[in-house]
Amino acid sequence: MTRLQGKSALITGAARGIGRGFAEAYAREGATVAIGDINLEAAQAAAAAIGDAAYAVELDVTQQDSIDAAVAAVVARAGKLDILINNAALFDAAETVDITRASYEKLYAVNVAGTLFTMQAAARQMIAQGHGGKIINMASQAGRRGESLVLVYCSTKAAVISMTQSAGLNLIRHGINVNAIAPGVVDGEHWEHVDSMFARLEGKKPGQKKAEVAAGVPAGRFATPDDLTGMAVFLASSEADYIVSQTYNVDGGQWMS
Ligand SMILES: NC(=O)c1ccc[n+]([C@@H]2O[C@H](COP(=O)([O-])OP(=O)(O)OC[C@H]3O[C@@H](n4cnc5c(N)ncnc54)[C@H](O)[C@@H]3O)[C@@H](O)[C@H]2O)c1
Repeated sequence: MTRLQGKSALITGAARGIGRGFAEAYAREGATVAIGDINLEAAQAAAAAIGDAAYAVELDVTQQDSIDAAVAAVVARAGKLDILINNAALFDAAETVDITRASYEKLYAVNVAGTLFTMQAAARQMIAQGHGGKIINMASQAGRRGESLVLVYCSTKAAVISMTQSAGLNLIRHGINVNAIAPGVVDGEHWEHVDSMFARLEGKKPGQKKAEVAAGVPAGRFATPDDLTGMAVFLASSEADYIVSQTYNVDGGQWMS
């Protein structure tokens, strides 16, 4: 199937993990995909592996000039921007009394301000084109409920859910659908990092946190990026034209709403 034939997409943080899985799926569905990432070398390697439909764009979502340049690069290459996935994010964990201002500012700069101002730049471009568009923000189960050691990250993902609601209501009059995906736990380099943080904070053995978390997922396992691509393709397609401001759980049954 080629449900995104002829579409031009930008995916932030797509050099690895979930974003890369989305880029592969979008290319399979007929879209041209910009892999926007702060790690240009990894973005180039991902684009080369995906093939002609993908290309790398250097992007630091904490810098306005970098966001503007990335959108301009997409328009220069593909002639337009139809789909944005705000996927880049950072994670941190700490006891509440040990949270640092530096960690707070770094996570908010990428996860909240990065999502907002990339969404804004994409929306401006989509409005100028006059044919609507699709914006998908990556939220998380962590945005549905706080976690003892994860105050800052959880609050950034709650902000993503809220921004999705407001921006969706504001932009639908331009034919721009803003929605979000809330995954549970997705295997990859990100979770290797999370596991090692919990090993340090909770005195666990390497791999122990992952095994405990997997046992608590109703579906019985971590997700792979491929478990999320169906939702990402659907929300970017014309089948989702009447879906506005929603956050969809794709989490193996961890959260119900
Ligand atoms: N992995 C999970 O279990 C999980 C669960 C729920 C939600 N999510 C969300 O899904 C998204 C992708 O997660 P992942 O596990 O693939 O993450 P990841 O850490 O594997 O990949 C993140 C990518 O973002 C890039 N990046 C970091 N800072 C950037 C910046 N300033 N500008 C541009 N790019 C930047 C990194 O280079 C990396 O390629 C994130 O929003 C994450 O919060 C992940």
